[in-house]
Amino acid sequence: MADGFSLSDALPGGNCPNPGAPPGQGWPPGPFPGYPGPPAAPGPYPGAPGPYPGAPAGPGPYAGAPGAFPGVPAGPGPYPAPAQPPSGPGFGPPPPQGGRAAPMKVPFDLPLQAGLAPRLLITITGTVNPKPNRFSLDFKRGHDIAFHFNPRFNDDNRKVIVCNSMFQNNWGKEERTAPRFPFEAGKPFKVQVLCEVDHFKVAVNDAHLLQYNYREKRLNEITRLCIAGDVALTSVTPTMI
Ligand code: GAL
Repeated sequence: MADGFSLSDALPGGNCPNPGAPPGQGWPPGPFPGYPGPPAAPGPYPGAPGPYPGAPAGPGPYAGAPGAFPGVPAGPGPYPAPAQPPSGPGFGPPPPQGGRAAPMKVPFDLPLQAGLAPRLLITITGTVNPKPNRFSLDFKRGHDIAFHFNPRFNDDNRKVIVCNSMFQNNWGKEERTAPRFPFEAGKPFKVQVLCEVDHFKVAVNDAHLLQYNYREKRLNEITRLCIAGDVALTSVTPTMI
C-alpha cells in the first residue's frame, strides 16, 4: 500500500511506513485516513441499525464476505466486512425532501450490537454549539463507562480534553494529555475513534490527537456509544477497516 490506508500501518506489529513518526501513534503519514478510500469501501458495522434510527436492522454480526476490502486483510474475528458497501451518511437521518439533513437528537445513543473489537472505526461528524461548555463521547459497558472522551471549553478558564473511565459509579484517574484542543465554538468537526489491540486511538479533523489504553478489556461487552453535550450531530458511523 503506497498511499492508501493499510491496516498493518495502524495496528501494532504492522509495517510502519514512517519510521520517523513519534512512537505509539500509529496513524499512517499524511492526512488522517478516515476511510480506506476508493476503491476499498469500508463496510458498515454488521448488525447495526439502518441508515437512520428506527430503521430495520442490518445483517447479523457474522454475515458478509471477508476480504471485501482490497489491501486490508480479512480478520478472523466476528466482524468480517459485509459484501455490501455502505450507503448514505452513516447513521444520520434521511434528508428531508430538497433540504439539508435534519440534525440528530442529542444525547444520542448508538447501540453496538456486537461490542467493540480491534479494527472497528467509529466516525462522528457534527458541529460544536455556538456557546459550548462541554460534550462527551461515552463508550459504555452497561452502566460503566469504558472510555469517556470529554472536551471542556471552560475548565477553570482553560480548554482541555479529559479522558477517563467510570466503574461502579466511580471515576478513575483522569488523563489530560491531549497536546492540543482541536474543537471550536460553532465549527464543524470530525472525530474518529479507532479501536486497536490495547487502546483507543482518536483523531480529530484528520489529525491524530490521543490514545487511551483500555482499562475495560472486555471489548465485546462495550455495546453502546452515548454522545451528549453541546454539539449538533450530523452522522455517527461505525465501520470495520
Ligand atoms: C467529573 C464530571 C464527569 C466526568 C468526569 C471525568 O468531574 O462530573 O462528567 O467528566 O469528571 O473525570
